[in-house]
Amino acid sequence: MSTIRLGDEAPNFTAQSTEGEINFHEWLGESWGILFSHPADYTPVCTTELGTVAKYKTEFDNRNVKVVALSVDGLESHKGWVNDINETQNTEVNFPIIADEDRKVAELYDMIHPNADSKLTVRSLFVIDPDKKVKLTITYPASTGRNFDELLRVIDSLQLTAYHKVATPANWNSGDDCVIVPSVANEDIPGLFPKGHTEVKPYLRMTPQPNLK
Ligand code: BEZ
Repeated sequence: MSTIRLGDEAPNFTAQSTEGEINFHEWLGESWGILFSHPADYTPVCTTELGTVAKYKTEFDNRNVKVVALSVDGLESHKGWVNDINETQNTEVNFPIIADEDRKVAELYDMIHPNADSKLTVRSLFVIDPDKKVKLTITYPASTGRNFDELLRVIDSLQLTAYHKVATPANWNSGDDCVIVPSVANEDIPGLFPKGHTEVKPYLRMTPQPNLK
């Protein structure tokens, strides 16, 4: 186990899941990916999280993002719990859940934080780009469910900034103005950003979001 940092290649693995055996890199293919862990099956916050992710399938599909969950419970436990998620969250779980009973993947991705819980995975989440590079890591404790609207917002920023020489300012949402990255010379701005720009300070140059009509 080693800490996974932004820009690292996402480690590959083969694991059993509710949708059969997964070779992670092959399963990702050309897509973006989210690998996220939760502490345990049949727990309340996790039930709401997985139900929420199932309801966001169209949002993930629109962004070319595949999602896979993980906990250190077994396959039969996962399958039984999925019925509860579907029933209580009024949805159909539509993504695989990895059964990581031997903690192979949890250890590979440093998802067990012994000073938080010696046995269970914390709420780790990794966003992986089509080159299999880690673009985002977040870690929440068991007591705090994640905000999946924020996750979509960050994915919008990651995908925009991967292809355009912009960064996104505080509280940015898709459609808002963006920051031109400092490495762009002033003379190159008109060619790169034909919608125009505003120089607030020499180091703070704003432009309309470049990938919108
Ligand atoms: C939950 O998902 O609700 C949960 C799991 C482990 C500890 C606390 C809460």
